Amino acid sequence: MKILTPFNIGRLEIKNRIIMAPMNVGGLNDTDGKLSQRGIEYFVERAKGGAGMIIVGFTRTTREFEQAPDTTLARNTIADDKVHVSWLNELAESCHDYNTKVALQLSPGVGRQAGGYMQSKGLAIGPSEIPCFWPPHLNTKELSKKEITKLTDSFQPAAYYCRMAGIDAIHLHGHEGYLLDQFKTELWNNRTDEYGGSLEKRMRFTFEIIKAIRKGAGNDFPIIYRFGLSHEFEGGRTLSEGLEIATLLEQTGVNALDIDSGCYETWHLAHPPSTIPAGFKLDMISRVKEVVKIPVIASGKLGYPEVAEKAITSGAADFVCLGRPLIADPDWVNKLVENRADEIRPCIGCHEGCLKRIYDHKYISCAVNPAAGNEKNMMLEKTVSPEKILVIGGGVAGMEAARVLSERGHRIRLIEKKPHLGGNFMPEYLPDFKYDYLKYVQYLETQLSKLNVEVFCEHPFMLEDVEAFVPELVILAAGAKSIIPAIPGSGKIQSLSVTQAFQKRTTKEKIAVLGGGLIGTEAAINLAMNGSDVTLIEKKPEIATDAFLPNKLHLKILLAENNVKVLSSSEIVEIKDNQICCRNNTTSENITINDVEKIVYCLGMEADTEVLEILKQTKTPVIKVGDCIAPGKVIDAVWEAYRKARLI
Ligand SMILES: Cc1cc2nc3c(=O)[nH]c(=O)nc-3n(C[C@H](O)[C@H](O)[C@H](O)COP(=O)(O)O)c2cc1C
Ligand code: SF4
Repeated sequence: MKILTPFNIGRLEIKNRIIMAPMNVGGLNDTDGKLSQRGIEYFVERAKGGAGMIIVGFTRTTREFEQAPDTTLARNTIADDKVHVSWLNELAESCHDYNTKVALQLSPGVGRQAGGYMQSKGLAIGPSEIPCFWPPHLNTKELSKKEITKLTDSFQPAAYYCRMAGIDAIHLHGHEGYLLDQFKTELWNNRTDEYGGSLEKRMRFTFEIIKAIRKGAGNDFPIIYRFGLSHEFEGGRTLSEGLEIATLLEQTGVNALDIDSGCYETWHLAHPPSTIPAGFKLDMISRVKEVVKIPVIASGKLGYPEVAEKAITSGAADFVCLGRPLIADPDWVNKLVENRADEIRPCIGCHEGCLKRIYDHKYISCAVNPAAGNEKNMMLEKTVSPEKILVIGGGVAGMEAARVLSERGHRIRLIEKKPHLGGNFMPEYLPDFKYDYLKYVQYLETQLSKLNVEVFCEHPFMLEDVEAFVPELVILAAGAKSIIPAIPGSGKIQSLSVTQAFQKRTTKEKIAVLGGGLIGTEAAINLAMNGSDVTLIEKKPEIATDAFLPNKLHLKILLAENNVKVLSSSEIVEIKDNQICCRNNTTSENITINDVEKIVYCLGMEADTEVLEILKQTKTPVIKVGDCIAPGKVIDAVWEAYRKARLI
């Protein structure tokens, strides 16, 4: 495969075309701006897994801006002193052991995208006094020329420390609407001095930073510049200006361009959720290859080997930058090299274990790979006393428990009452926007088959299963079932199950989905995509409050594109023949939806306790995992299964 062949960035040869994308590691950063030992282990695991180059994410060059003087707390790595040479050097040498190169991503700051904490301390800065993103009634403070010089100057020592430590390249964070991007963008840069006005002037901040890096690390030191070719919202950067920026950067002597799109206004592009298809940016990225000769790196949702390979063979890019796919599976590259692509554990695009955990002040990890970011403590060890274990339930919790237990040397039998594995959704009928989830279920199925787990589908649990197999332990992963609440008149309109709502349908009907959490929202989108006239009713003011921000943003776009009518802040009062009566819980206005032919109840789930009751008749110990304890998300099911199964 071409993706496995070497290629150069400047003087640097990289053994393959796979680069690990820069990603802040949250709690794996020490509070003094160093990367912790566990952070180093996390990156080395990905080097060991075969990545050609690893980029450490958002790193500041100074703590003089955007840092409160009364706190030592840093959420990022900071390369502002030679004390940082030590961890940089340990990281570089450990990755070099696997012939993996290391780049450090440097950034002058977040600017208008400062969080509430920085804003409350008056620390939000910008090229101009402009509204912050969160919340927009607060403004940034315009940087003076003296402050700009202070910021740019700080890149020289930072670059020097990188070279001194054996780091191979510097990656500049010029994308996603952060400070460096704000200077480049007319919408956010209203300056009238030499840093504002024409594109060349808006790029002066970038050029001065590049000059400072060259002074610090030398003219031959590879510099990669990441930016969004287009912001894709009114007033933001257009594609044609993006191409001009690419040309200007090449002329300045940058050694490679890492191409992305979007910003916080269009966060679903910079952080593509599961509902966006893989490879969606490649056509746009290929335009850059038409205007520059330096290597182009493609970023964003390229985690399936065939898509990544196409990015290179089609000529759209010279490298692919994989972020979440390498969190989900550190061995992504090695599995490809060993012809085991079907064993790659796919990222499901949920953001629950990675980005959300960082926003929740935790360390980076992954919904489908609980060992990510905690590689040594969560390593799986072979059992010294193998047991016979019966797993009841073939949703993701049961499958993950069976996988982990079997890998550790236990003998596993898994039974599932439905005709398929994968839980509440019938994998073969899943809508296209659940593709990542389908691939994840397929990955688990492949693992169970390779590990020789005995799987019986269409096999509802009976006591005879215990009598026949005589397990020493039962893992109960019986899942959850939908709650049908006592709404007056429920039963007057025929209902579809959640499983049916996720299937491709040919009947075009008027359907009301009751409950606008993540599942209800996705069900409504699928029904509307299949031609039905859908109304989504949710009692909270917002839909999909259980989805993380970029995911929710894209769900809202899909609802609008598919003409789903959304009734938020709405309580369902009564169901009549073909009518649903609601009341707006803020305005008390009564709303009636007429001619409703079908209803989907997505008003929550409750643990399925049926099997547990039967199991009470046996003496075999039972450990519960997943939704049969408390209904949750994929991350809850997988983490619980993994954490329990690794200790049995
Ligand atoms: C947890 C997390 C942290 C991220 N931090 C950064 C960062 O520090 N710098 C950056 O340029 N991009 C950052 N990104 C964006 C990624 O580099 C990447 O562009 C994005 O995840 C899409 O690529 P993927 O689909 O391969 O994950 C981050 C993404 C995630 C999920
Ligand atoms: S937490 Fe979700 S989005 Fe993040 S890497 Fe894991 S599977 Fe992918």
